[in-house]
Amino acid sequence: MDPLELFEARKSIRSYTRTAPSREDLEKMVKAACLAPTGKNRQNWHIVYTENREFITKAAALILEKSERLTVQLKDERQKESLQRITPFTVFFRDAPALIFFFHGEYSVTGAEALRQTGAQDESKALLQAAPGIQGAAAAMENFLLCAAMLGYGTCWMTAPLFAARELEALIGLDMEGFRLMALSPLGRPDPEVKTLRPARKPAGEMVTVIP
Ligand SMILES: Cc1cc2nc3c(=O)[nH]c(=O)nc-3n(C[C@H](O)[C@H](O)[C@H](O)COP(=O)(O)O)c2cc1C
Repeated sequence: MDPLELFEARKSIRSYTRTAPSREDLEKMVKAACLAPTGKNRQNWHIVYTENREFITKAAALILEKSERLTVQLKDERQKESLQRITPFTVFFRDAPALIFFFHGEYSVTGAEALRQTGAQDESKALLQAAPGIQGAAAAMENFLLCAAMLGYGTCWMTAPLFAARELEALIGLDMEGFRLMALSPLGRPDPEVKTLRPARKPAGEMVTVIP
């Protein structure tokens, strides 16, 4: 198989049929996530999976309520307009048969504390901004989504709903110290009636700099 076929199989899907993934397929997706690299092999990520309609509807309602609350409070018209424009892209998961929340756990960044204690605050901050802990959790999420695509499922990496992360975390009630919500994704069979086009990519050559 041409390896690019796997990556071409994944696209952000925003319309789903009602068929939930089989347990067997779900297990494969989780195993794929487990194979991802993580810093110091900490495996500092966790998945919360649900097919519970009431729960999914409640999660969407919390996001819409937060969006409304922010819109009412905002004075800046441009911010208001931008929040209103993005809101449909935060709740379309409510029509999918399953929803996955990806959490990242705490991670101690090598050298950050050493830099801070030796007066290199800016360097320490820049190092933390590279977020190595989140990089590992994101690698696990990408593995999960690619495996889902290989099995014929649709997904969509979503972070726009995270303006309501506190409310979503409270709803989920995950009892794992230091774990924070990183992203979510619907999961299900893509609606065959809806054609999804892949947004254009920059030319690959523009994405690479080679040191001769
Ligand atoms: C970190 C991240 C956050 C994203 N957040 C959202 C989101 O909240 N809502 C949404 O509809 N799409 C979201 N997307 C999907 C992107 O819009 C999509 O990946 C991009 O347009 C490329 O399209 P493709 O995934 O079909 O290749 C997100 C993707 C990433 C990687």
